Amino acid sequence: MASCLGPVLLLLLLLLGESAAGVNHCVDAAEECTADALCERLRTEYVVRCLGRAPRSCPRARCHRALRRFFARGPPALTHALLFCQCVGPACAERRRQTFVPACAFYGPGALPPSCLESLDACVQSRVCGPRLRAFQASCAPVPSAPEGCLLDQGPRCLRAYAGLVGTTVTPNYVDNASARVAPWCDCRASGNRREECEAFRGLFTRNKCLDGAIRNFDSKWPGILQVQLDPPRDPGLNLLQVSSGAQPLDGGSLLSILLVLALQFLL
Ligand SMILES: *[C@@H]1O[C@H](CO)[C@@H](O)[C@H](O)[C@H]1NC(C)=O
Repeated sequence: MASCLGPVLLLLLLLLGESAAGVNHCVDAAEECTADALCERLRTEYVVRCLGRAPRSCPRARCHRALRRFFARGPPALTHALLFCQCVGPACAERRRQTFVPACAFYGPGALPPSCLESLDACVQSRVCGPRLRAFQASCAPVPSAPEGCLLDQGPRCLRAYAGLVGTTVTPNYVDNASARVAPWCDCRASGNRREECEAFRGLFTRNKCLDGAIRNFDSKWPGILQVQLDPPRDPGLNLLQVSSGAQPLDGGSLLSILLVLALQFLL
């Protein structure tokens, strides 16, 4: 009898945690980072560096360096959860968009986005950015010969390479709080006879089903390993359904009340 109680209570606790986390996975990810000394220290470092006094005069190079350190040295499970937390509402997505202080790390220095060709050329010539961009291309670009256009095990590698670009001249970010679309801060309006090259580069971020799929399939691992057992891997189509129906919090609630009844039966 007592041996049954433990698992049920644990399940209850996890579901309670999940119903709160369901509202904002990005807050959850932030709390997990706070609880980890290394993650917290590296995050504090970049926040301090990136929060310049005036928006157009922030210490961008130092901010970028601190961000690269965060993703290079922080525990990947935690740093990736901050970057790829799954959202169903704008509050969560806004927080995700703001994760690495875009005012300094993403925008600027001008008021208008530069040409992506400028960013691309600067990146290719940079010893920091060049190899990271090549890794991103190698890990995230669609593979036409693969059945679905992306290699099966491509996702995690692609997300690692994407995170590696944060803090470079082609730092990508979420473009708004209404989608999970990402792009570097640049456009292809003034690309002249290199337009195709420009669009191809930008498209690696904005029209890349392998990157989109990797972000969508990222499992933020909260509220814990038991969640994985409760919720075995499904095909991506079902995951999508799950996300789009996540707007109705009733499901979790009714499941919770059923479990409460079950738990009470054990207790009484
Ligand atoms: C989402 O973005 C829009 C446009 O930038 C902004 O007006 C709105 O306040 C944002 N929503 C949240 C919840 O931050």
